[in-house]
Amino acid sequence: MRRWLTLLVAATTSLVLIALLVPLALLVRTVAVSGAVSEAESEAESVAVVVGAVDTETLRLTAEQAEHPVTVFLPGGEVVGDPAPRSTAVELASRGRSVTAAAPGGREILVAVQGAPGGTAVVRVFLDDGRLTRGVPQVWAGLAALGLALVGLGVLVGDRLARAVIRPITALAGVSHRLAAGDLSARTVPDGPPEVHAVGVALNHLAERITGLLAEERESAADLSHRLRTPLTGLRLEAESLADPEEAARIEARVDALERAVTSVITEARRRGRERAECDAAAVTGARVAFWSVLAEDQSRHFTLDLAPGPLPVKVAADDLAACVDALLGNVFAHTPEGVSFSVRLEATGGGALLTVADAGPGFATPDPSQRGESGAGSTGLGLDIARRTAESAGGSLSLGASPEGGASVVLFLPAVTP
Ligand SMILES: Nc1ncnc2c1ncn2[C@@H]1O[C@H](COP(=O)(O)OP(=O)(O)OP(=O)(O)O)[C@@H](O)[C@H]1O
Ligand SMILES: [Mg+2]
Repeated sequence: MRRWLTLLVAATTSLVLIALLVPLALLVRTVAVSGAVSEAESEAESVAVVVGAVDTETLRLTAEQAEHPVTVFLPGGEVVGDPAPRSTAVELASRGRSVTAAAPGGREILVAVQGAPGGTAVVRVFLDDGRLTRGVPQVWAGLAALGLALVGLGVLVGDRLARAVIRPITALAGVSHRLAAGDLSARTVPDGPPEVHAVGVALNHLAERITGLLAEERESAADLSHRLRTPLTGLRLEAESLADPEEAARIEARVDALERAVTSVITEARRRGRERAECDAAAVTGARVAFWSVLAEDQSRHFTLDLAPGPLPVKVAADDLAACVDALLGNVFAHTPEGVSFSVRLEATGGGALLTVADAGPGFATPDPSQRGESGAGSTGLGLDIARRTAESAGGSLSLGASPEGGASVVLFLPAVTP
């Protein structure tokens, strides 16, 4: 845009200058030519005055002293002064008409002198092209230099103006990208021309609105989760009134776990957005695998854990990453038979961390099992989509494939925390 504006100014300035300077240059040339011609005419007139009044020798001397080459054609055919051909214009002048005519290399000014002894004499003053346009090239060079200087000045002013417009627009684009990447604290300082200033104010307003709406969303999610507490309390009372104490204790333990889960959903929903999303991927993955290892032992599953040495900071909140690992390991336990082995590997890459969960089970049956709501096992079909969204919201990705043993393999790329 900056280049376009500068080019526009250069083109406009050039057009205006051409429209002004070209006629001015032609006028300068015309004035110079008419000045030189009238000067030569007055010289011819001054020689014409003495023709017939002085003898030939004095006439020659007068002609030689003149500034321009002067030739006098006397009526008898005698030529005095600078030798010159007797052109048709001279013939015309000898009939009594003073003329100015083009001649090779310049112009001849011809003054007819009537009343000379023996007929009409003709005084010829020759003006070469150099004298005709004396000083014109210098004036033209001056005009061209002035034109170039003005175009240069125009381009400079245009560039400054373009920069003043583009700087705030670039800043606006930067803030929009930060907002799109999830940094809701991004705001711009409105600047530049009124229209761009107004866009800056509107963008800040939009950011405030998005932040407000998300906060409301979180609060309503917390409220909705809170409603689960009432039926849970009812369930707890029912459990307590069971006759079999062992069964009562078992159901109470389940209700406790469910209540803890609801509480964590409420606090988690309210916490989001206030904290900067980042965690140590090595610590979170290690903790979740340790949790699942108990169940793996119960189901006689052999597993390998290959953890890169921490800390491995990634742009995902600890709870979100824990939910991802749980979803992936939960899938291994839900969709592969007992006894099937699996592996978890976390490695550091240049831009973040790569988490791979692979198993030796039957592998994915459908081409895109991460479709939200699609379950091949009668479940909710959310696990892989939650993992994908978590990775993508941080700027990472999820990819599905096959493990070397022919089972399922899920690779999660989590970008590193940027300072
Ligand atoms: N390790 C795996 N081995 C074989 N198939 C798998 C594996 N993980 C996922 N799948 C397939 O991908 C589908 C989608 O998985 P996803 O976790 O998104 O949903 P789900 O497990 O069916 O439901 P939810 O996770 O919500 O309880 C599963 O239904 C299953 O068919
Ligand atoms: Mg699942």
